[in-house]
Amino acid sequence: MDFNLDQTIYQFNDEEDFTIGNACEGVQIFGGIGSGKTSGSGEALARAFLRSGFGGLVLCAKKDVLDDWKRYARETGRAEQLLIFDGSGNFVFPFLQYEIEREGEGAGYTDNLVRLFTTIYEAIDRSSKSEGSDPYWERAMQQLLRNTIDLCMIARGTVSVPLIHDVILSAPISLAQIDTDEWKNKSLCWKLLLEGYGKDLNKWTRHDFDSTASFWLEEYPNLADKTRSSILSTLTTMMDIFLRRPFRMLFSEMPEDRRKIAYPELTHRGVVIVLNLPVKEFGEAGRAAQVVYKYLWQQAVERRATTNQTVPVFLWVDEAQNFVTEYDMQFQATARSTRACTVYLTQNLPNYYAVMGGTQSKYRVDSLMGNLQTKIWHANSDPMTNEQAAEVIGRSWQIRQTSGESYGADFFNMSSGSNESFDYDVPPQSFTKLRKGGALNDRVVEAIIFQNGRIWSNEKTHLVAKFKQYGA
Ligand SMILES: Nc1ncnc2c1ncn2[C@@H]1O[C@H](COP(=O)(O)OP(=O)(O)OP(=O)(O)O)[C@@H](O)[C@H]1O
Ligand SMILES: [Mg+2]
Repeated sequence: MDFNLDQTIYQFNDEEDFTIGNACEGVQIFGGIGSGKTSGSGEALARAFLRSGFGGLVLCAKKDVLDDWKRYARETGRAEQLLIFDGSGNFVFPFLQYEIEREGEGAGYTDNLVRLFTTIYEAIDRSSKSEGSDPYWERAMQQLLRNTIDLCMIARGTVSVPLIHDVILSAPISLAQIDTDEWKNKSLCWKLLLEGYGKDLNKWTRHDFDSTASFWLEEYPNLADKTRSSILSTLTTMMDIFLRRPFRMLFSEMPEDRRKIAYPELTHRGVVIVLNLPVKEFGEAGRAAQVVYKYLWQQAVERRATTNQTVPVFLWVDEAQNFVTEYDMQFQATARSTRACTVYLTQNLPNYYAVMGGTQSKYRVDSLMGNLQTKIWHANSDPMTNEQAAEVIGRSWQIRQTSGESYGADFFNMSSGSNESFDYDVPPQSFTKLRKGGALNDRVVEAIIFQNGRIWSNEKTHLVAKFKQYGA
């Protein structure tokens, strides 16, 4: 099958083409609660992706996402390719082991794993970001992780969340402690150091091991207590997620039967993976797990070689404020060449600003928004979102009828006149008047659509599109 970028997979209002290329350039859907994002434009595009044979990854913030996707898949003949990853353990994903095996011998796994943890940390600890993270502290945390991973890999040839956790918790907290038999007898960290010493290592690995050993036996015990305990508590909070049920089974342990592993690469063959670990139900753990999976999936997509036969894959993120990370911008930048179609749905811009905190927040959100080229705005009462939408669509000379009801206008005898001004093509308040679907609106949802540089057949830079709600 061919998947040319200029192939049309959907038409807005049955006449305006939406191509694979458009899909790869990313879609951002905004709209207030109950404005028809999910059941209007969202469902229309989701069905188009499925009908066209795309593979994909669906993240779940709410419980009903799975039922929606089961229905879409059934009705587009794709039910067979739906892979439901949930708390049952039918599928698992031991992400650290996956990352190590993927890299093979001698590759830069340590840095990748440290970056992976940084991404999880970014997603679950939004609050500390908003205060502006302290680079010293972040570096200290990364250094601790790097040395833990190196120690595990050199001594045991593997790494897992439980192993990392136990090494960190058994590390010496003072120089005096290192000389005590009590510590030596029960410390896993010490045990791994001895195992490493005993190994016949090549010159470079020996060098790595020596610096790891001096970190654990000199640097770490000398850290200020306050620094050490705050790094420790952040790391253990993060690890705890993957040590508790059902997440330990789902993400930390290697299954006996490897066919149970939900490899991200399955989507490249047209599988649609639904991560049914809704944040509403599983909380932070559900969010962290989905962020890890999304990150590794994004990297897997970036590694694939593409031609016109490559099956496009989509990333579907409703309530996207839960899952957005800095890496998304980097991913989106190469999405066209990797045939990756990202669709983000959220109520409004402040949702993003709230989670992508810190002094860089504006830059981060703007950059992400700039990279999602198709913008779909549904009914909204959020002024910031509406003003930005009006601004993005742009201004031109507008002829506005002046109102005959105004006393002032009557007085100056201008009641039937019109005046010309340079103003918004779509003023911010227009977004409060779009139809939101439901029985009251004959199940019709409206939205205003914009694509950078595109003039629609109405010769304008924006399009008012209608979507019919299918329903269960
Ligand atoms: N198939 C359907 N038929 C009729 N009405 C529907 C259907 N699906 C949803 N609705 C109604 O249409 C409106 C829009 O719903 P939808 O869930 O798409 O909004 P949303 O923008 O995704 O909201 P939220 O931000 O809460 O996720 C709601 O009032 C909903 O009850
Ligand atoms: Mg919704």
